[in-house]
Amino acid sequence: MEDVKSTANAGSNIALIKYWGNRDDELRLPMNGSISMTLDIARTTTSVAFDQTYEEDQVSIDGEAVQGAARERVSKFLDRVREMADTDLPARVVSRNSFPKGAGIASSASGFAALAAAATKALGLRLSDRELSILARLGSGSACRSIFGGFVEWVAGARHLDSYAFPLAPPEHWHLVDVIAIVSAGHKEVGSTEGHSLARTSPFYTARLAQLQDDLPAIRGAILNRDFTVLGTIAEREALSMHGVMLTSCPSLLYWNAGTVEVMEAVRRWRREGVEAYFTMDAGPNVHVLTVPPFAEAIRESLMQIEMVERCIVCGPGEGVQYLESHLF
Ligand code: DP6
Repeated sequence: MEDVKSTANAGSNIALIKYWGNRDDELRLPMNGSISMTLDIARTTTSVAFDQTYEEDQVSIDGEAVQGAARERVSKFLDRVREMADTDLPARVVSRNSFPKGAGIASSASGFAALAAAATKALGLRLSDRELSILARLGSGSACRSIFGGFVEWVAGARHLDSYAFPLAPPEHWHLVDVIAIVSAGHKEVGSTEGHSLARTSPFYTARLAQLQDDLPAIRGAILNRDFTVLGTIAEREALSMHGVMLTSCPSLLYWNAGTVEVMEAVRRWRREGVEAYFTMDAGPNVHVLTVPPFAEAIRESLMQIEMVERCIVCGPGEGVQYLESHLF
């Protein structure tokens, strides 16, 4: 084994067409394809080493030892990697996020993308980007998109090996801005893994999947043509469609808080005043305000005037997985 310790960095991503619901929960085979932008600022760095002196897998995120179900999830993922490398060495994983975890910025996406890259490299496996995407998907669905930079599509596929992401356009293709309004940095009550399994219980789910037949190619085209009005209009409606499914699931999932709604209303008001901005939310209360550079700073300042907005993170399109020479331990 050449690399005993490896470190990788991956960006979170904001879905423009959302992944919600699986045909196979275990393999994370999604019901629909999805499209996202990988972010430059909201990122995770992860160092992994395998060594028999560890006795068992040790995981630390943002300086805290991870136990219980969260550690099990990482261990289960590492078992896959160990199987590929034909080893049973325990691992030490140290991970650092540049953003609050579990708050609707997809820490599992950047986390499992960075983990997949660092762990495979540490064990001397040489995977193609597509193989890495397939592997990362097993840790967290949206992580398969974070392997790549810029604008990324995940093809749903029907089997393990044909469900992976690929780059639609590199980061420099289009300088979109995602101003993330943090309205709560607390941990969410119902994680997306549980949420996905409830999607089918919504009577709106089949309507949503039908709508995506039009929306997926439309967003893809808007990215390639750099048409912000089309992209924003569809992305905003698409987010509401996913939240419509969440709200009408059994049990119902309500990820928003008062701050979420206040920001949504503000964005629509600014739009009527001529500001080009649209909102989208993942499985959490924070609002991603999509815009273009001329409006970004004014939007950030206006968002900070809203009492429930704790802070803003201004992101652009970022690079995919990167390997670093300096390690976290
Ligand atoms: C709403 O990828 O977080 O952010 O595979 O269970 O980890 P798991 O789910 P996850 O689901 C993401 C849901 C979403 C939409 C999206 O990013 O496409």
